[in-house]
Amino acid sequence: MINVIFVCLGNICRSPMADAVFQHMVKDADLADHILVDSAGTGAYHIGERAHRGTLKTLEKHGLSYLGRARQFTAKDLTLFDYVLAMDNANLSTIQAMINDGSEKAEVNLFLSYAYEKKRVDVLEVPDPYYNNGFDEVYELVHKGSQALLEHIRAEHKI
Ligand code: 4NP
Repeated sequence: MINVIFVCLGNICRSPMADAVFQHMVKDADLADHILVDSAGTGAYHIGERAHRGTLKTLEKHGLSYLGRARQFTAKDLTLFDYVLAMDNANLSTIQAMINDGSEKAEVNLFLSYAYEKKRVDVLEVPDPYYNNGFDEVYELVHKGSQALLEHIRAEHKI
């Protein structure tokens, strides 16, 4: 199994969006038996909560639902997941600071780096929609980022 986790701050806006969109793409590609998808937040503010209604409404517009509840990212996740994908540089730094004994197997990267390298987006960070209601912009970035990520994983694992 290839384990993929998306990480933002609260795990209620951006990473649940990526979780839902990427999971849907994985199913469409008939790869659900090969790729496991999860999400978490570096912060503890919203543990146990459903995703933000802005994320849920935007997903619904695109025919997707999401039932997950927020949880906090832990150092153990670095040993469990093959791809740990941060939504922005601040969360990437928080994750990198948790790497300590070299035993982690994860590829830790910015989620948009794959789409950026393929010149499909011109930003490396997914902006936080929590304060500006920018959920549609997040969806567009997450969609492009997920396509590029799936291509990367398929090429790397020859699946
Ligand atoms: P997220 O958005 O990291 O995309 O889930 C946020 C959600 C909550 C907060 C910040 C960002 N907050 O400060 O509570």
